[in-house]
Amino acid sequence: MIVARASITRVNEVFNEEPAINDNDGDPELTVKNGSVEFRNVSFKYSEEAEKNILENINLTVKEGEMLGIIGATGSAKSTLVNLIPRLYDATEGEVLVGGENVKHYKFKNLREGVSVVLQQTMLFSGTIAENIRWGKMDATDEEVIAAAKAAQAHDFIMEKENGYDTELGHGGNTVSGGQRQRLCMARAFIKKPKVLILDDSTSAVDTATDAQVRAELRSDAFKDITKIIIAQRITSIMDADRIIILDDGKICGMGTHDELVKNNEIYQEIFVSQQEGVLAQ
Ligand SMILES: Nc1ncnc2c1ncn2[C@@H]1O[C@H](COP(=O)(O)OP(=O)(O)OP(=O)(O)O)[C@@H](O)[C@H]1O
Ligand SMILES: [Mg+2]
Repeated sequence: MIVARASITRVNEVFNEEPAINDNDGDPELTVKNGSVEFRNVSFKYSEEAEKNILENINLTVKEGEMLGIIGATGSAKSTLVNLIPRLYDATEGEVLVGGENVKHYKFKNLREGVSVVLQQTMLFSGTIAENIRWGKMDATDEEVIAAAKAAQAHDFIMEKENGYDTELGHGGNTVSGGQRQRLCMARAFIKKPKVLILDDSTSAVDTATDAQVRAELRSDAFKDITKIIIAQRITSIMDADRIIILDDGKICGMGTHDELVKNNEIYQEIFVSQQEGVLAQ
């Protein structure tokens, strides 16, 4: 009995704890005005007890409309870095700014209306393809749904399905392939016309030709004013970005264009050479 009571108390303690992140201090009137993103002396760790920072003193300014590529080994904290932008986590030290404002000054709803993220673990819901895309903008017209699907290179495979946009996705979206899931999730992010678009390894399961088509789309006028932050494993996915940063163990250890990094950055050269060998071996 005593044991049971002790555990009930513990459960209550857990449930009564304030969630670590809230938007109580957010200004309901404040919306994301432009797509600039800035990290000022940002360090981060997932738990207070952890000894080592996962991100270490990140300073980075991304201009409105810029395309920033991020590359780095697995575990180098690429996802952690971008997840601070829509406040999935808060910086342990330093500040993250979107549209010139500290992300903590926004209500979640307004911040996330301005910042669209396609997470590395893509999520689809049961419901139709159209409903899944429209999740990004509930009042979108059919034309907007189709335009977003086209930009994400999803329209053609959708039309090949017997019920097209009305195709029911099973629980967890298991009626589509991995690459198709990624494209539907990109369409959902595109339809919002956000100020900041973040793609976390969002074309890893699509073929290189489709990947190139998505990139061409992101370079088009429709995306001109949208800040694009793209995490990729393949250098080809980000080599035409305005700027590329290389993360190594939570630190920025190189920044520049593809041509600059190929000349000057050892880690980038290593990745580039290893991926070219991969191509030659095929
Ligand atoms: N929710 C979490 N709680 C605790 N540690 C985490 C969590 N998510 C990631 N980590 C740790 O933080 C570090 C950075 O992880 P992160 O997922 O940001 O790397 P990544 O560069 O995105 O890797 P990948 O290329 O595999 O996607 C890793 O050591 C990882 O184990
Ligand atoms: Mg990741």
